[in-house]
Amino acid sequence: MCAFIVANTATASPGLVPELRLHLATELTPLWRSTAAVLASEDMPPPFWAFAWAGGQGLARYILDHPEVVRGRRVFDFATGSGLVAIAAAKAGALHIGASELDPFAAQAARLNAALNAVTLEVALRDVVGEDLTGYDVVLAGDVFYERPLAEAGTRWFRELARRGATVLVGDPRRAYAPTSNVELLATYDVPTSREIEDDDLRPSNVLRVIG
Ligand SMILES: C[S@@+](CC[C@H](N)C(=O)[O-])C[C@H]1O[C@@H](n2cnc3c(N)ncnc32)[C@H](O)[C@@H]1O
Repeated sequence: MCAFIVANTATASPGLVPELRLHLATELTPLWRSTAAVLASEDMPPPFWAFAWAGGQGLARYILDHPEVVRGRRVFDFATGSGLVAIAAAKAGALHIGASELDPFAAQAARLNAALNAVTLEVALRDVVGEDLTGYDVVLAGDVFYERPLAEAGTRWFRELARRGATVLVGDPRRAYAPTSNVELLATYDVPTSREIEDDDLRPSNVLRVIG
């Protein structure tokens, strides 16, 4: 898995987060095709982990510019993908970083990317939606409102976590199913994106605090 990730990506920095280096797809089609070929038989998802999504980039930028949000705290990055938000939190001084993914390739890519940036992450390969995440003070999620079931379940859960006292921040490039109530807008960034995945060169991305 590690060899596949390294062979099908290049080391690059996301446009809004030049401090970090990640294994990323620099040309969409070859990776998508080769991944599909390799993974089709195993019924695996497309390589979301090979892109630094606009929501994740905005949230990572916010964390790096406001390190006090995570410094010395225990932080969980839900649906970590490439690990970019989790890595930003580690760089900003978080005490411990946990993360979750459903895609084993993403979990492995996040670990590789953490090593590339000289930080460590603990990635759980399971669905933690609905769990209390006991012991975590801050919950982060980059770009998770792109499909309705995940967005609805995620939003309900984020509110529960906020009610139990966690700081919950999400990065969202105005996806269709993003919550519009019980959120506080903290920042908006114009994120450089690829036309192949976002139909635009720049995408506004909001950083929202979820209110319980
Ligand atoms: C659009 S990507 C965002 C990745 C990363 N947070 C970023 O901003 O670049 C969405 C990711 O969510 C993951 N995902 C979807 N549902 C999930 C769930 N219930 N638990 C954990 N990860 C999930 C997918 O595998 C995918 O990697």
